[in-house]
Amino acid sequence: MTDEFGREPSSVAGKGNGGSGDAVLERFPLGSSVTTEELRIHPHPVLHRLRSREPVSWIPELQRWLVTDWSLALEILRDWQRFTVDDARFTTGQVVGPSMLSSDGAEHGRHRRPFDPYFKLGAVTERATTTTTWLARQLVDDIESRGGGELRTELAAPLAVVTIAGYLGLDRLEPDWNRLIHQVLGWYQHIVAAVEALTAGESASLRASEAMDQMAAVVDLVLGTGDDDQDITTMLIEVAESATLSRAELVSNVAVILFGAIETSEAMTANALWHLLTHPEAVEVGLNSGNRGRFISRAVEESLRLEPAAALVDRYTTQDLTIGGIELVAGEAVAVSLAGANRDPAVFEEPDRFHPGRPGLERHLAFVRGPHACLGLHLARLQTRHAVEQVLDRWHRMRFVPNRSAGPSGLVFRKVGAVTVSVGGAGVER
Ligand code: HEM
Repeated sequence: MTDEFGREPSSVAGKGNGGSGDAVLERFPLGSSVTTEELRIHPHPVLHRLRSREPVSWIPELQRWLVTDWSLALEILRDWQRFTVDDARFTTGQVVGPSMLSSDGAEHGRHRRPFDPYFKLGAVTERATTTTTWLARQLVDDIESRGGGELRTELAAPLAVVTIAGYLGLDRLEPDWNRLIHQVLGWYQHIVAAVEALTAGESASLRASEAMDQMAAVVDLVLGTGDDDQDITTMLIEVAESATLSRAELVSNVAVILFGAIETSEAMTANALWHLLTHPEAVEVGLNSGNRGRFISRAVEESLRLEPAAALVDRYTTQDLTIGGIELVAGEAVAVSLAGANRDPAVFEEPDRFHPGRPGLERHLAFVRGPHACLGLHLARLQTRHAVEQVLDRWHRMRFVPNRSAGPSGLVFRKVGAVTVSVGGAGVER
């Protein structure tokens, strides 16, 4: 099993981990009985039970410690010196090479800093608003013209791919966005296949290098387009010119940005739409509130809190330490449950309720805090808000089709199965 970026579980056995057999059962009775399947299908009751009795628990099926308490989660995410991402077991690191995602400290800063200015709120708003608004409207218009459709695959997924591909300047290679989606998903699947092969213990060197060769060729092509059009500079050209990263490091970080954006953004948008369509009463309150923009952004955050698209992130202990009263030795795998932390009743009142107006909503951890806080969070928010806006524009002629929809599932990624709506037509007016 790997996390969203392909981190593998700990292989440290019999040291500071739960131990084995009866000893584990005795120390972590709840954790010992937790199954991966439960965490995948219906995690929230399990996470509540763990948090109340074993907030740092050894889960034998995951071969990791699982942290479900908000304060402990925050402590771990901020403390890269004791809880690092820099570990050889991280399969995505093996496939894509060293990047911001697999480094900490000064090295992490060196990888991330050149990209940071392009992902700040102002830069994202300026560079991406026109495209994402246009694309979201286009996709929802198409769905409406067909009388309805499935919003995850027909809206959230294409929006996710085109947004990040366009932001990286890849649309300069392929302006037709249907073909662009096809190409980008091809590269993406190549990388995923290499990560999965490695995770399964297969030799993935050929597939891994094929995947990265493709990414390198793409980056070279984008860089090559700089010469013939002086007016348009893309992020990649500017980062390459800053010369703080080698060509190979630039390629690795581009792969991580693509890899980090595609599935998560699709899930974030689809989950938000699902929450809204299954809580029409909250939408009516929001639409009548006189501040639709504020309602949309709060509803998106509340959806992220309830079902963070990336529900688990991994860290590795760098030294012997104590966390939440549990002693760990160096080199253990610790999974932080963002889904668990986001429903901690000590921080969020009535944590299982969809309540966009709740106080303290901004404390959710869906994008992580600390040095690895999501680089793309503003871009992700922008596209989801635009998608929601387009759906709300048609709200009174749109109807949710529950028997062709399916709620969120997934251990590491939490993504709805389907969000089907009909739009227009007889009997659809609310
Ligand atoms: C435009 C879309 C996105 C882009 C470009 C993007 C990119 C990235 C990158 C490059 C990182 C690594 C940062 C670092 O290690 O310093 C990251 C981290 C992260 N992203 Fe995103 N991301 C996007 C959307 C999302 C979404 C929608 C979610 C979930 C709702 C998400 C959740 C996370 C989390 C939880 C981490 C931290 C991983 C860890 O600490 O191990 N991202 N993102």
